[in-house]
Amino acid sequence: MEEHLTVGRVAELAGVTVRTLHHYDEIGLLRPSARTVAGYRAYSAGDVERLREVLAYRRLGFGLREIADLVDDPATNTVAHLRRLRGLLLEQRDRAAAMVTAIDGELQARAKGMRTSPEEQLKMFGAQLYDAIGSAYPATRRTEPRIAARIWDALGDARTVLNVGAGTGSYEPPDRDVTAVEPSAVMRALRPAEAAPCVAAAAANLPFGDRSFDAAMAVSTVHHWPDPVAGLREMKRVARRVVVLTYDAGNTGRHDRFWLTRDYLPEFAELLVGWPSLADLTRAIAGRAEPVLIPWDCADGFFEAYWRRPEAYLDEHVRRAVSVWTRVGPQAEQRAVDRLRDDLSAGRWAERNRDLVALDAAELGLRLLIA
Ligand SMILES: C[S@@+](CC[C@H](N)C(=O)[O-])C[C@H]1O[C@@H](n2cnc3c(N)ncnc32)[C@H](O)[C@@H]1O
Repeated sequence: MEEHLTVGRVAELAGVTVRTLHHYDEIGLLRPSARTVAGYRAYSAGDVERLREVLAYRRLGFGLREIADLVDDPATNTVAHLRRLRGLLLEQRDRAAAMVTAIDGELQARAKGMRTSPEEQLKMFGAQLYDAIGSAYPATRRTEPRIAARIWDALGDARTVLNVGAGTGSYEPPDRDVTAVEPSAVMRALRPAEAAPCVAAAAANLPFGDRSFDAAMAVSTVHHWPDPVAGLREMKRVARRVVVLTYDAGNTGRHDRFWLTRDYLPEFAELLVGWPSLADLTRAIAGRAEPVLIPWDCADGFFEAYWRRPEAYLDEHVRRAVSVWTRVGPQAEQRAVDRLRDDLSAGRWAERNRDLVALDAAELGLRLLIA
């Protein structure tokens, strides 16, 4: 016979009161499938699964009635719920990181005796991560011509190109008819006047018909999407050819290969938990993956760009233009920077990484997916 948990045990495990569980039963949200001999509520594995969904949606701020509709939807199975919850939680995490950044900015302004405007104070509530950190982006993020050449080559003879998660448009090919998609208002506002027209939308729901473009591209953005596989499928739907610059997160050797994550910022690994494998990503577009080496003097200041120029990571401008630093939180960031500074001045970094000096380009997991 299937094992059941008592109401008291379930309440204890889930960190809710027995009264809450009784209430869920009374309103029909979670009816335990059995009773003990003494008449107490008893929860099966299936009941517990449903409770997990109810509580996770609750924590995300959904109302009980909305939750009932969600968990009763026959078209959504457990895996679909888990994927949706995961996407929503990641979005919440990024929004929390954006709010911490906005609050830090206001605290700094106040410490200097400055007051932030009502618009600025309220902006944080609607903020996407890039609405909070986007203004720091142009300081160091720009086209790296050697990587651009690879992307443009992969676009083949495409005349119309959709650039998803376009940001400020660093990798938009100048000789094609480009349409950009970018959800962050701040990033859209930072696009140069002559940049391609930009639509406010997200990858999961591209407002274009099937096969509207010769090619769709996405550069350094897929790791921000709540559901990367769904976004890539959308790209495949709207375009005949798909080109994506991303990284191979499944390869754990990558963390060890890059001294910054290996020796200073192990928290980076937490950002990748549950991230689809390279195989999942390439499968989503039915494509292939090619390694992209990062030149030692890479012009685009993304996270790994300064692998042979470690002092760069001590520069606040460099870090603020890379979302990883905001996502790991201020404590991890400060600790990593302090340790790196100490190691650089004591010669320990040079000692540990002396092999790098001879390299002109590094394989740090960057991949070009082409379909
Ligand atoms: C690191 S930037 C890259 C921008 C640009 N592609 C480049 O290479 O410079 C990541 C961009 O992804 C955008 N983004 C975040 N979530 C997104 C989503 N769900 N769909 C599309 N773009 C998204 C961000 O707003 C940001 O502009």
